Amino acid sequence: MDDNQNWYLNAIFYQVYVRAFCDSNGDGQGDLQGLISKLDYIQSLGVDCIWLMPIYPSPLRDDGYDISNFTDVLREYGTLEDFKALINGAHSRGLRIVTDLVLNHTSDQHPWFQASRSDRASTFRDYYVWSDSDQKYPDARIIFIDTQKSNWSWDEKAGQYFWHRFYPTQPDLNYENPAVRTEILRVMRFWLDLGIDGFRADAIPYLYEREGTNCENLPETHTFLKQVRAFLDKYYPGRILLGEANQWPEDVRPYFADGNELHMNFHFPLMPRLYLALHEQDAAPLKWVFERTPSIPKNCQWCTFLRNHDELTLEMVTDEERDTLWRAYAPDPRMRLNLGIRRRLAPLMGNDPRRIRMLNALLYSLPGTPILYYGDEIGMGDNIELPDRNGVRTPMQWDETRRSGFSTAKPDQFYSPLIDTAPFDFRSVNVVAQDNDPDSLLNFMRMLISQRKAHPELASGTLEWVETENPGVVAFTRRWEGKGIFTIFNLGDTSRGARIPRELRTEPRLDLLNSYLRIVPDSTNLNLKPFQFGWFNL
Ligand code: GLC
Ligand code: CA
Repeated sequence: MDDNQNWYLNAIFYQVYVRAFCDSNGDGQGDLQGLISKLDYIQSLGVDCIWLMPIYPSPLRDDGYDISNFTDVLREYGTLEDFKALINGAHSRGLRIVTDLVLNHTSDQHPWFQASRSDRASTFRDYYVWSDSDQKYPDARIIFIDTQKSNWSWDEKAGQYFWHRFYPTQPDLNYENPAVRTEILRVMRFWLDLGIDGFRADAIPYLYEREGTNCENLPETHTFLKQVRAFLDKYYPGRILLGEANQWPEDVRPYFADGNELHMNFHFPLMPRLYLALHEQDAAPLKWVFERTPSIPKNCQWCTFLRNHDELTLEMVTDEERDTLWRAYAPDPRMRLNLGIRRRLAPLMGNDPRRIRMLNALLYSLPGTPILYYGDEIGMGDNIELPDRNGVRTPMQWDETRRSGFSTAKPDQFYSPLIDTAPFDFRSVNVVAQDNDPDSLLNFMRMLISQRKAHPELASGTLEWVETENPGVVAFTRRWEGKGIFTIFNLGDTSRGARIPRELRTEPRLDLLNSYLRIVPDSTNLNLKPFQFGWFNL
């Protein structure tokens, strides 16, 4: 592994759901050894870092985001030895690994909660948030609005209500209690000592509660996260914290603080606006969100994404924008969940390769470090028949054999059915088929990733919009340390001309993304086919 402590500033992440990726022992569940067997594949994508969704013991009421033991591996996934082998295997290929750190809550099966609920005198009582009334903190919103009525649930055994921002099987930890804070640092130390490169810190806005507030982004939360960062910097420099704060940019900005809190934060509000811009064939939503995005310290970076394992959240848009996006991208009510859309990228794009590629290229042109969700590199589909977010967590489609190369178990023993209906059928959408096809989405993504890595100005450079005199064509320049790139996208489904800046007209230029777009000296216009795009060196 290189020792570049700023590795995350210009990187690509790949998000892996272990259960879905590859099954090594034929029980129908993906596992760590299966993932190890696919590290060459992940390396072949050109990514820098794997984000592992939770791998800890858990009753799996929320796919592992309900942890019952913070310092072990779920049996179905393997052992701590397997985990060490995974770290070594990744590091020897130059790949880093960050794991999910679910610090806001545990499973109700966690021994802390069991002790807490059973005995008021237990030292663990105060590990959770108990109350005689379910009327406290009324200004805290409900996140899983489709299924939850309250953030409080009555516990018969405890004779009190407990606080939970997610499912009732996920009681919130009480961060007022110093013992909880110490325990979490101990958990972090455990995994850092095994060699991981950082954490994706789950659900961080909700650590503390205060009457009269919405119980999000409280000053106490920032104080604690700064302590966590100081601990990392002191003992584990170069390991990172990536925060999941689904908030407006001005509320996320404090999580970077002066470069002494989180290294990275997801840019949630950008994500829906990429879809909106495409739908409206207009860059306005993108311009709006970047105007509203404050600058961040030099040692910090945004994490950007098109999709992940959750619903495509529409929390950070106006009611009107949400309705537009729902109508455009989730016409069937079953495609909707909470305030979002439970579909994958390819189906959202109508499985149109031009739109899938363009949206990816647009994301990779904008500031931040992009994350790629497993399966989206081959354009996998989803299954809206499955409940909750399961439809976007189906088995990885490796090849066209009966079990798709995911497992040797009988398909009816799989943790989830394979996608087996057209057009996303695993017999047509799979890694092997695309590996062999130079024009496949997979090979496009590899090319996009390598071009992106070769142009650090795309990660951290300035962003300047360029007037194309055609609202459907978005163009901007990115400049950084003497390097520069000009990017242009036709968001529309008709051919369009766009005016190009004078400085580009001096010499012939060829698009860096193999689109056959070229700039000829002295021509003032560039003609783009529907959904065509390009990158040009400045
Ligand atoms: C995060 C995760 C989500 C999970 C929730 C509760 O939002 O991304 O999958 O359900 O936290 O842990
Ligand atoms: Ca297995």
